[in-house]
Amino acid sequence: MIICTTIFEVKEAVAEYRRGDQDGIVGFVPTMGFLHEGHASLMRRSRAECGLTVLSIFVNPLQFGPNEDFDRYPRNAERDIELASKEQVDIVFMPAVREMYPKPVKTTVLVSDLTDRLCGASRPGHFDGVGTVVSKLFHIVAPDKAYFGLKDAQQVAVIAKMTEDLNFPVEIVPCETVREGDGLALSSRNVYLNEDERAQAVVLYRALNMASELSQSESMTPANLRDKLNQYIKEDAPLSNIDYIQVLGYPDLAELDSRTPLKELRDSWIVAMAVKFGSTRLIDNRLFPGE
Ligand code: PAJ
Repeated sequence: MIICTTIFEVKEAVAEYRRGDQDGIVGFVPTMGFLHEGHASLMRRSRAECGLTVLSIFVNPLQFGPNEDFDRYPRNAERDIELASKEQVDIVFMPAVREMYPKPVKTTVLVSDLTDRLCGASRPGHFDGVGTVVSKLFHIVAPDKAYFGLKDAQQVAVIAKMTEDLNFPVEIVPCETVREGDGLALSSRNVYLNEDERAQAVVLYRALNMASELSQSESMTPANLRDKLNQYIKEDAPLSNIDYIQVLGYPDLAELDSRTPLKELRDSWIVAMAVKFGSTRLIDNRLFPGE
């Protein structure tokens, strides 16, 4: 496994592979490190589908708000390298902030509309930071396929739209959410939860199961479902503080007609939620294919 810290090195390493195998497919898994099974599942998928797998580990300051957890975001480079090596990643790119942003950034990539709701509304500027860093990484690594987790379904929608709008020659591959035994979606931020919060955090998964069940009933509308989930989470997890629960179209994230029963929707839709436990903000979602 090659570990690169400079843009020059990683470009060279990918170019070397392409010189050796002109039909070879380059897979890319962008992450912010503190790797877990969710990240590992993306690496495995890339390895299964591509001849070369590049993993990036970069805690991107541009996507954190001034009062967010950039400084205390969990980091463990040594363990990350061990996990990447176990997953047989070919190249790890772990640049310092000054390598990615040597000078103040004046160009950003903003995907409008899709980013003004859900996490975009709660975290102003967040998706501009994501779009900008992913654009830079796509230019640096020049992958054929890039793997993203559906745990961050809005991020997948935003990156897919950016890729389409700006003609990045890369296929965006959405991957299933990996969960703990009790259903809590794996996240680097789960380490922030104390014991009681961790026990109650399973409410997100339970609420999504409840959404699956309720959406089967003939009369359940988006507005109705939202209210029921809201009430359930508040009652079941007293330590929770709901940031948002939304029922929207996917991947356009458009408002649904609040009176049309979900059972009658033809296009796919999503239940997405962000719930805080203390200062830890957890997100989760479920996609529904439509009839
Ligand atoms: P990070 O939060 O480290 O996540 C990296 C990738 O792992 C994302 O595509 C995310 O959706 C995926 N992932 C996280 N938890 C997962 C889980 N439980 N199951 C499946 N996939 C999971 O997302 C980012 O980093 C950044 O915004 C990034 C895209 C790297 C840009 O900085």
